[in-house]
This record gives sequence, C-alpha cells and structure tokens, in this order.
Amino acid sequence: MDKTSKIFEGSALVGSGSCLPTQSLTNEQISHRVETSDSWIKSRTGIGTRRVVGENESLTTLSSNAAKAAIEMAGWSPKTIDLIVLATSTPDDLFGSAPQVQAQIGSKNAVAFDLTAACSGFLFALITAAQFLRNGTMKRAVVIGADQLSSWVDWDDRRTCVLFGDGAGAIALEATEHEKNGILGFELKSDGSRGECLRLSKTKNHLTLVDGSTYQKGEFQPIAMNGQEVYKFAVREVPAILQKLLDKENTSPADLDWLLLHQANQRILDSVAERFSIPHSKVLSNLKNYGNTSAATIPVMLDEAIRDSRIKPGNLIATSGFGAGLSWGAALIKWQGPT
Ligand code: ACO
Repeated sequence: MDKTSKIFEGSALVGSGSCLPTQSLTNEQISHRVETSDSWIKSRTGIGTRRVVGENESLTTLSSNAAKAAIEMAGWSPKTIDLIVLATSTPDDLFGSAPQVQAQIGSKNAVAFDLTAACSGFLFALITAAQFLRNGTMKRAVVIGADQLSSWVDWDDRRTCVLFGDGAGAIALEATEHEKNGILGFELKSDGSRGECLRLSKTKNHLTLVDGSTYQKGEFQPIAMNGQEVYKFAVREVPAILQKLLDKENTSPADLDWLLLHQANQRILDSVAERFSIPHSKVLSNLKNYGNTSAATIPVMLDEAIRDSRIKPGNLIATSGFGAGLSWGAALIKWQGPT
C-alpha cells in the first residue's frame, strides 16, 4: 500500500450547517387553501409547520448558507475545499446549481456538481463524495442536501401539498486515517420499475417546430404521489436495508446512539424504530417544524442535533434515506466534529 492510500483510508464528518427559509406555513394556513385540518395533518404525518422559500431566497442561497456554516464549524478556509456535491431535485438551473454555490462560498479550487436522487440524494451524495476522499484524489468535500419542493407541488392537491417543505443542510467531510473514519458502511438501492408511485415528470407537450417537425416543450407536471404505495415501500424496504447494513457491520441496534431516517412521516419513523426496538428517545425527528424537505431532511436534522449537543463526537448513527426513483439507502456514520 502506498503512502497516499494509507493516509486517506476514511472520511470524517467534521462540520455541519443548515439554512431554512424564513417564511413559515402552518397547517392551519394551508387549511385556508385546501380542505384539510391541523389535526388531520398532525395525526397522519407528525407535521405541524414547514418553511417555504420566499421572494429574497433561493435554493442556491439556502445551499450556500448551509455550506458556509458547515465550513465555519470545520474551521476550513473555503479555498481549501476540493469538492462540492449538491444533492437536489429542484435546482435553480437545470444545468446545475452547485457551481453557483461554489462561487457564492468562494471555493474557487473546488469542482462542484449536482446529484439527483430525490429524498435519498443526500445519502447518495455523501457516499459519492467519500469515494473521492478514500481513493486519495481529494481531501476536503462539502456535501449539501437541498430542495425547494414548494415550487413543484400542486398547492390545490391536499394529498401531497401538506407534506413538503423547503430547506438545505450540509456536511463538511475530510479525508482521514482509518481510526477516524466516520462512514463505517453503506448500502444503496434503486428500483425504477416501481418509480411510478412518486414522480415529478416532464410534461408531454409536443409543439410544432417547423412543418413536419415537433419539439417537446420544457415543462414539468407537479409532484404526483400514491401515498399508500410510498408508505408501504418505506416501511418494508427501510428496515430491510438497515438490517442488512447492521449485519454486515456486525452492529446491533442497541449499539446505536441515534436513528436518523429521512423525515417523511412520523408514522414511518415510529414503525422502523419499533421494528428494531429502538427507544423513542434515540429517534431524531424534526418533522413537526419542517415537514419533508426531501434531500435536506437528513443534514438539517444532523445539524440541529449536533448544534444542540444531542449528537456528541464519537456517537454512532444509523441513517436511511428513501424516496422517488424509487431509491433508498442506509449508512452507518460516526460524528467526529471539528478537529
Ligand atoms: N387532509 C384531509 N384529508 C386528506 C388529506 C389532507 N391533507 N389528504 C388525504 N386526505 C383524505 C383522502 O382524500 C382520503 O379520504 P377518502 O377516504 O374520503 O377518500 C383519506 O384522507 C385517507 O387518505 P389516505 O391516502 O388513505 O391517507 P393515509 O392515511 O394513507 O395518509 C399520507 C396519507 C400521509 C400521504 C400517507 O400515505 C403517507 O405518509 N405516505 C407516505 C408518503 C411519503 O412519505 N412521501 C414522501 C416520501 S418520498 C419523498 O420524500 C419524496
């Protein structure tokens, strides 16, 4: 083994940050637009309020602010960052928003690109970034999960519009020796054959270009979801992938300090925790404040629990993301904190 690969055998989570839009939207406010109620939404999902991007905010600014906070906690100069991966399904620019984030945070030496895997996006991006660090080609990465689903829900469809919110979270990831490795294991899965139950699809709108030729106009339909199918998918696949990961890593649920699932529905969180006999006190949840912020839920929840000292250096966390694609995954991670 050469010297380089000896040094970079792992990646450590050394900083976290998040940024939520300032504008809140309560269940009660939504009930002024569609036929629903605070008690229905709370009892079926656990959601009380959510944040929605307002006029002076954007997916890019939220992402940049989250990244800046993570970099500051890590104690890094922005110029020392090699890689920025922005997990999002809702970029401000379909060509990619990560380069704009790179410019806003002043990381002129970093390569920056978007990665799309819906609500699993942050987990997929974290594992992707870790590969660059582990193979020795890069030393410092910022992984961002951010989404602005408020732009893509049908605000007159009560079955979906009550579920989602906007936000951004980020983690600073540093190449490290094996002893400090913070990504202990992972499993990632996709199944496009079941993708129909949750879509944000391009509109099939073919217009005349010139005589005899058409083009497909670039527009998207609002989010379409079969809630019950997605629910069944989550409560079946998340425990299965977590079990596989724990078995592979020779870890028992009792060894975990925290269970951190994609924040989609409190009932999904409770069901998975019950399956592993993990007490409620170890299950991280902020659904009541933010709803489902898609790729942002895991890093926003991580940052909140790190900053209020629930998560401490050395804590072992089982995390799982799941959502459209269908895509899902799990990782066993350890919070290192600034070194
Ligand atoms: N307010 C009041 N009534 C409602 C609402 C609402 N917001 N939404 C649906 N209802 C009604 C329905 O119309 C239906 O009425 P009906 O019986 O008269 O037809 C009734 O409530 C029950 O509807 P269900 O769809 O069966 O409700 P369910 O208990 O399944 O809850 C929910 C719906 C919350 C969407 C649930 O299925 C769920 O959480 N699924 C998972 C969704 C999810 O997690 N999606 C995101 C994951 S992937 C990602 O993060 C992108």
